[in-house]
Parts: sequence; structure tokens; C-alpha cells
Amino acid sequence: MQHPLFDRLAAAGQQHVLAHYPALTPAARRQLDQQLATLDLDLLARLVREEHEAPDWAALARRATSPPAIELAGRATGPITPEAARRAGAAALRAGQVGAILVAGGQGTRLGFAHPKGMFPLGPVSGRTLFQILIEKVVATSRRYGAPVPLYVMTSPVTHDETTTFLAAHHHFGMPTGQLRIFCQGTMPAVDAQTGRLLLARKDSLALAPDGHGGMLAALDNSGLLEDARERGVGYFSYVQIDNPLAMLCDPELLGYHCLARSEMTTQVVRKSDPHEKVGNVVMVDGKLRIIEYSDLPDDVAQRRNPDGSLCVWAGSIAVHVFDREFLDRIAHQADALPFHLARKKTPFVDEGGVAREPTAPNAIKFERFIFDLLPWARNALVVEGRAAEVFAPVKNADGAASDTPTTARRAMVALFTQWLRQAGATVVEDTPVEISPLWALDAAQVAQRLAQSPPARTIDQPTYFHE
Ligand code: UD1
Repeated sequence: MQHPLFDRLAAAGQQHVLAHYPALTPAARRQLDQQLATLDLDLLARLVREEHEAPDWAALARRATSPPAIELAGRATGPITPEAARRAGAAALRAGQVGAILVAGGQGTRLGFAHPKGMFPLGPVSGRTLFQILIEKVVATSRRYGAPVPLYVMTSPVTHDETTTFLAAHHHFGMPTGQLRIFCQGTMPAVDAQTGRLLLARKDSLALAPDGHGGMLAALDNSGLLEDARERGVGYFSYVQIDNPLAMLCDPELLGYHCLARSEMTTQVVRKSDPHEKVGNVVMVDGKLRIIEYSDLPDDVAQRRNPDGSLCVWAGSIAVHVFDREFLDRIAHQADALPFHLARKKTPFVDEGGVAREPTAPNAIKFERFIFDLLPWARNALVVEGRAAEVFAPVKNADGAASDTPTTARRAMVALFTQWLRQAGATVVEDTPVEISPLWALDAAQVAQRLAQSPPARTIDQPTYFHE
């Protein structure tokens, strides 16, 4: 009997995905059927057709100017002072208007870790995982402001089950029952780069990959969690990625700038130290804020300098944002808001003869959406500068790489915690690893309070983990 989707697949030139169907077990057939049922063949055909119409990033970058931003220099005398921002952010937190989003759907291939990245043991003294480090910030914030801060964790089909089991086994690291919700992002099929034909990962499965962190928008909406946030009275989301242990989830100052500027999307940046730093670049193009990835930034633009020697393209994205919930509500129903970015990748596949192939060069196109492409759609979109040493320690690569490794991230954490302790009057002997749990202190001021409660002044000469 002919497969019910045969005609549609054939019309799209994709009937080869049924080549092994007759020989599959009933369970395997069901799996493939489920995947095929959710395929948007028209969208796929359009994306492949338009591959050569991708934005001309080089041309966009050449028109780019520095983004208007709340920079560190001159902040104290700006229209919104840091104190006013902190007060406004604290008020939103006390009113229970803030939710947190943690995206953790990536596969962490570059890190060479065989589990979800959030399970990576990063704590320099404690060995705490990235999940624990970031989730404890939410718990501590909720306690400090005496209001719930619901946390929405995004997984992908590759990380979902392991993440759910891991978080449950650790009692969600202290998140009150019902306050941590896990939702799974969608996938996009990979296609052969030459022919645009769907690739099979196995005889009974398409080659599917997570649809990028931009998939967060549809996944949050489809899972009913945007509605959940509305029902809880959440007006603002603090958004971070799992790969940055220094990310300031629910930072009252960033939230406050967002609220007082009536921005719909606020993004935190750091000043790039090197023209080719591997971060997205926040720029103004044709009157709109947008992010141009480092891989799309032409060298001559990256190197441009102002008369004082500073970089023109200076604002590096650390992927820390604040969103208005109403903005996400509105934009979630606008189909074209987030474009797909196409990437050529090496993708193993099973050919029509049933032979498993391991390509040695990029053979496939994968499709991803990026959440930062919401910036041009947001009213009063805002850029706020943070200090890299306080807010950004990315974990991207395995130890041994030149940058963004577990070792560099641990070093950054120890440096920041050492600074907090020294500011509070403690003596930290050079090269002594120290680590602070957010549940003990969320910031330098709280470290000072804690130490004031336990005189005399301490000398720390052994690896020390400050925790509850
Ligand atoms: C990303 C940003 C870059 C920014 C940098 C800061 C993109 C394309 N680039 O770079 O502008 O300067 O972070 O560290 O985002 N993720 C998902 N689902 C997915 C894909 C990714 O949840 O389908 C999550 C990952 O778990 C990870 C984060 O998004 O936490 C970053 O994704 P990744 O693709 O590694 O981006 P980078 O190239 O590191």
C-alpha cells in the first residue's frame, strides 16, 4: 500500500525518505511517520530556494554604526542613573513581575562533553554544575525580594530527557515546587547541500537538529508557558544562555534600565577587547539595532577605529537579554519575525542503498533561528554595557583551546569572587581558589554583609567555597 504522504513527498522531490519504509518495524514506521507529519515541506523548499538570497552581511556591516547605548563611562550622569535603575528593577522583582529563561538546548559539541552542557561540573572549588550555578541565582533572587521568580528552562530533543532527570534528581537546586518549568524546543531537518533533499540519520529517522535558540519563541508559546507566565503576573523575562556562569540572571539594574526606558527588548553588551573576538556585534543598521555575528563581520569593518583609537564596532553581545512578555506574545504570532540562518555542516547520513555515510567535508545545510533577531522588531530596543569581568565567562571549547574554556571561565569566577572578598576586607592569598554560592551572597554588597556578621577579618589561604 502506498504511504499516505507519498504524493506530497513526491511532489516536493522528497519521496526517497520512504526508501526503507517497507522493511521497517511497526514502531520504527510510527517514529518516521511522526517526523514526516510535522514537516513543513513548503517552508523547506523555500529556504533551499532562497539560500543564495541570504542577507549580504558584508554590505550591512559596512553601513553599520555604533549603537546608542547606556555605556559604563558617563552612566552616573546619564538620564537614568544606575541607582534609579536598580530601584526600578528591585520594585519589579518585589512585585513578582520577573521570570527567568535559561536556554540549554545546544549540544555542546565544541566542549566535547557527552551530556547536556548544563551538567558540566564548572565550580572552581565546589565542582557545581552550570545548571546549579545559574539556578541558584534565581533561588537567591527570589529569596532576596520575597517574591516568586519562575524559571523556564529550554531543552532540545537531544538534551531533554537527561536534563529533566538530572534536575529532578537534584530537587531543581532549591527552586520551589512548580516554579521551574522545562520546555523542549523544536527541530529542523538537515538537507543535502547539493540537492536540497532531506537526509536520513537512520533508515527510520530524518536527520533533525535543534532549530536554534530562536526556537525558544515558538516553543515557549506552543508549550503554553507564555500563557503560564502571564497568569503568574510576569511582565519581564530575564534571558541567559547555559554557557555563561557569570551571567547576571535577574540583574535588578539591567531590568530597571529596561523598565524605565520602556524598552521591549534590552540587551547587555561588553566592550570588545579584540576586533575579532568571537561574539555577535551589536550595531545600528538603517536605523535599527541588530546583531552581526563575528563570522559575518568583514575584517576591514572589524578593524575600524575612532579617532581616540577605540573600536567602532565595540559592543559585543553576551546573549543576555530582557524581554517584555507582551512583546514575545505579539511577535510569537508573526511568522516571519525570525529568519532562518543557514549553516553548512558535516552531517552523517544513511544513503538510499541503506549505507551509513560519514562525510569528511560539510555536506548538509542546517537551519537555525537566533533569538537576537528580535531586536529590530522591538520598540525602544536598548543596549546596556556591562563589565566583562563581572558578567561574561563563556564556556564554549574544551580545555586546551585558546579561549572560552572551562579553565578560563573558572579563572574569571575566582577573580571576581576574590575581588568581592577583598573589597569586603578579607585577605585572599594570591592564587587561592575561592568560590561563592549565590545563596550565600549574590553580589559584593552581600559578601560585605556576610563578613561583617562573622568577624574578625579573615585570611583565606586554602581553596574555599562559601555557601549556605
Ligand atoms: C552565541 C551568540 C553570539 C554571542 C555568544 C555569547 C549565536 C548565533 N551567537 O554564540 O552572538 O556573542 O553566544 O556567548 O547565538 N542553544 C539552544 N538551542 C539551539 C542552539 C543553541 O538552546 O538550538 C543555546 C546553547 O545551549 C547555548 C547558546 O544557545 O547555551 C549559544 O549557542 P551557540 O550556538 O553555542 O552560540 P555561540 O556561537 O556560542
